[in-house]
Amino acid sequence: MILVTGAAGFIGSNFVIDWLAQSGEAVVNLDKLTYAGNPENLKNLQGDARHVFVQGDIGDRALVDQLLKDHAPRAVVNFAAESHVDRSIHGPGEFIQTNVVGTFNLLESVRAHWTALGDADKAAFRFLHVSTDEVYGTLGPDDAPFTETTPFAPNSPYSASKASSDHLVRAYHHTYGIPVLTTNCSNNYGPYHFPEKLIPLVIVNALQGKPLPIYGDGQQVRDWLFVKDHCSAIRRVLEAGQPGETYNVGGWNEMANIEIVQKVCALLDEFRPRADGKPYNEQITYVKDRPGHDRRYAIDARKIHTELGWKPVETFESGIRKTVQWYLDNPEWVAHVQSGAYRNWIGTQYGAAA
Ligand code: NAD
Ligand code: DAU
Repeated sequence: MILVTGAAGFIGSNFVIDWLAQSGEAVVNLDKLTYAGNPENLKNLQGDARHVFVQGDIGDRALVDQLLKDHAPRAVVNFAAESHVDRSIHGPGEFIQTNVVGTFNLLESVRAHWTALGDADKAAFRFLHVSTDEVYGTLGPDDAPFTETTPFAPNSPYSASKASSDHLVRAYHHTYGIPVLTTNCSNNYGPYHFPEKLIPLVIVNALQGKPLPIYGDGQQVRDWLFVKDHCSAIRRVLEAGQPGETYNVGGWNEMANIEIVQKVCALLDEFRPRADGKPYNEQITYVKDRPGHDRRYAIDARKIHTELGWKPVETFESGIRKTVQWYLDNPEWVAHVQSGAYRNWIGTQYGAAA
């Protein structure tokens, strides 16, 4: 079996759902259930004996030691993190605690467990760390995309905390020999994406007649990947990645934020036209920019393609249609995540009028 951390969140829950659909191998899911962790994401797995959920912190040494002892997983996949850049600007402390100290404690538990294994189990064991393209910093309009050898230059407390964890993971391979793998992926979108992030925020705000906030001039560029493609990349790296290596994961799909929002609005015009017949893009509102906002990210994903044969299945056009449709089909999920705590965040970030 495998231990997956943070799998009540956006990508982790998609990963576990896909994993269990495609393999008979059981999963222990360790998640603290912060505001971003949502057991509802996993409700279709209720009654499935292959999924064991444990509420807890990756930084809790005693708990993680016990889980490793009880379940003897052949691999650990670490999704658990504080993941929202804007929240890291308002309050970096939790990001250091989970992403840096938490990852360190998790690695310490894994080191103790791995050291005690026999030679064959040691060689077969994997620790896969799920990271981000944001560790590489920002690009100019004509710069080449990030490769695995691009120097780290993180610009937000979030990306700095992720870069720190990536360095720790690397060091545990170099120093102790633990067979680690790291993936650095671009922006994901898809089902179960918490509506603090751009795409789900725009979908839910549009449907609720609220402003669609665009930071600064909206010309910041991101590379977008459908979440199921990220999950297949992680499965492939776990299966065939070379221990100690890092793999960039991306969709070859750079787009400016304003373009993304226009596309989402156009799909909503098609699927669920406004009652007054006007286009949703009338709700677009330019707001104050994010401090230290990275201008452009772009991923060179040739290594994972040439060495491991992975490439994305969805185009942005097919993935975003599925995503918008999923939000239209799941109003209860949206209503439940827009709880009191969510409203407090929206008030803090966008002001009382939002
Ligand atoms: P998310 O915020 O939706 O989910 C994070 C999950 O981790 C939640 O379920 C939360 O409860 C859990 N968690 C937080 N702190 C924890 C702790 N101390 N112990 C145990 N569980 C804890 O995040 P996501 O978007 O699903 O991202 C998952 C991972 O992928 C993160 O490491 C993130 O840096 C990385 N990543 C995300 C993206 C993206 O576009 N969302 C892209 C590249 C990489
Ligand atoms: O690149 C990978 C990263 O992608 C992950 O590591 C992060 O966990 C994930 O949150 C995401 O980070 P971003 O900051 O790129 O995602 P976000 O959805 O917050 O913002 C996407 C872009 O949209 C970014 O340029 C900021 C802008 N934006 C965002 C919000 C929430 C807006 O213009 N308005 C908004 O209201």
